[in-house]
Amino acid sequence: MTPTQIQLLRQTWDEVAVMGADAALLFYARLFEIDPTTRRLFAEADLTAQSNKLMTALAGVVQGLDHFELLLPTLEDLGRRHTGYGVTDAHYDSVGAALLWTLEQAMGARWSAEAELAWADAYGFIADVMRNAAWRDASRMGTVTLADG
Ligand code: HEM
Repeated sequence: MTPTQIQLLRQTWDEVAVMGADAALLFYARLFEIDPTTRRLFAEADLTAQSNKLMTALAGVVQGLDHFELLLPTLEDLGRRHTGYGVTDAHYDSVGAALLWTLEQAMGARWSAEAELAWADAYGFIADVMRNAAWRDASRMGTVTLADG
């Protein structure tokens, strides 16, 4: 991530954050439309509360981008918890697509190819950290099972 990209992420995020939970609710509607398998994961969840958690988590990431290494342990823990919520690797792609779509809706004419690339990079990085942490745990458990057997 270049400093220019980080600045761009912050600018777009500020505009989306103004929409608050509305942006997040738009996001979930889009997510359930493009990937109906995600809907059952949130069956028990209060979507407004969930939306606030997602917005707060993303705000924290956007805030911490200058020192991404400090965010890594938090994102890894978040990734491990997501395995427990039933989230699969493919779900991360659906969430990425829904997120970019939502940002584009929120930004309207101010959305740009540069902003899209910066967000795709940032989300791809976050998703990889979360997925890899979950995957490492799963493979470690696999080793234990094999050794025990
Ligand atoms: C950038 C990626 C993501 C971020 C920052 C994020 C953030 C969060 C946060 C902060 C929570 C609150 C609980 C906790 O801290 O453990 C949460 C819960 C949850 N997330 Fe994510 N998430 C991401 C990706 C995903 C993906 C790809 C899915 C799958 C569709 C997903 C599904 C869920 C579910 C099902 C819950 C639990 C809802 C409940 O029953 O309370 N998340 N997420």
